Amino acid sequence: MYPLDKNGKERRWRYGRKTMKILIEQNRIKGSLKKFSMKVIVPRDESYKPLYSNWTDSRYNAGPHGTTLLKEILPNTNFPFPKSLYTVLDFIAGATRSNKDAIILDFFAGSGTTGHALLKLNNIDDGNRRFILCTNNENSIAEEVTYPRISKVINGYKFTRKEKTIIFEEKITSKKLGEIDIILEKIELLKEEYSAKYDEFKIVIEDNSVRLYGNNRLTGKFIGFGGNLKYFKTVFVPAKSTDRNKEKLTKQSVEMLCLKENTFESVYESDNINIFKSNDHYTGILFDEQNIVEFKELVHDFELPINVYVFSLGDDDFAEEFFDLKDQVKVCSIPAAILRVYKRIFR
Ligand SMILES: C[S@@+](CC[C@H](N)C(=O)[O-])C[C@H]1O[C@@H](n2cnc3c(N)ncnc32)[C@H](O)[C@@H]1O
Repeated sequence: MYPLDKNGKERRWRYGRKTMKILIEQNRIKGSLKKFSMKVIVPRDESYKPLYSNWTDSRYNAGPHGTTLLKEILPNTNFPFPKSLYTVLDFIAGATRSNKDAIILDFFAGSGTTGHALLKLNNIDDGNRRFILCTNNENSIAEEVTYPRISKVINGYKFTRKEKTIIFEEKITSKKLGEIDIILEKIELLKEEYSAKYDEFKIVIEDNSVRLYGNNRLTGKFIGFGGNLKYFKTVFVPAKSTDRNKEKLTKQSVEMLCLKENTFESVYESDNINIFKSNDHYTGILFDEQNIVEFKELVHDFELPINVYVFSLGDDDFAEEFFDLKDQVKVCSIPAAILRVYKRIFR
């Protein structure tokens, strides 16, 4: 039976019987017999505020939290207009509030603010989010900005920071303009008085005022957030069916499969078999189905589960070949994008 709207048109129920039962058990259904209506109460997690469309807080200012921050990490870089770290951080926090294990992909990563923000957020809320940053390498940005930035944020860096203090300020009115010599004299005296306290002085006219700034260079050390970082370059593999190209493709696929499996520690490497490890499983990569027997000998006493990829032109799932190790070994299919190219080169 479907509910009718006020025009008598049949609509759908928002929740099925099963979901409704759960909501009733959670005491989240508020009903009124008089109006014959029901409301679902959505619990609010008090640790999060709703995100509104206008973000005006000073933490979103791209000057101090974008350009200046990036300059502190990479003093010799001139990346135009990096976003404020906090703009991206708050986006990621909002989007992953119920999944702190999320993987965030930014395929126009630029200076890498997304990776930096994610690492900082993980540090704040003990999350385990991961990121994949891709960028072209225009003006060597990947090599000179994106990668070194993230590496430094993970491993730590020394920085120097300019600290500006207003020592003197005078609003300029037409009357005061006549007294400019007196003001400048005052400033000179202040410069002498504070000469030991500041590294340099700057006289600036701004906001209808003349100001004397005392600037100091502070040095500090940022202790990295920790984490792992892998840097991959994409290249084209020529499509011509030559032995060299075959080797190129399979070798380059290894890195992609490691990335998919999150296993990067190499434990065995030969011309036909590669094995990698993480702390919870192994990944075995076989360049030819003929190496299955050899592979099984290598892994039979491994104590963690093993995911295996076998390059093959056929559609065999190798379940039979691995039957005796079926509790330990899972045969996985090579991702379609890799297999397609493999079959084209190996035809
Ligand atoms: C607006 S920036 C991203 C800024 C970044 N959100 C930040 O705060 O640092 C866009 C970046 O995308 C990169 N890019 C441009 N075309 C690309 C492409 N086809 N593939 C990948 N990255 C690209 C450029 O290097 C550029 O730096």
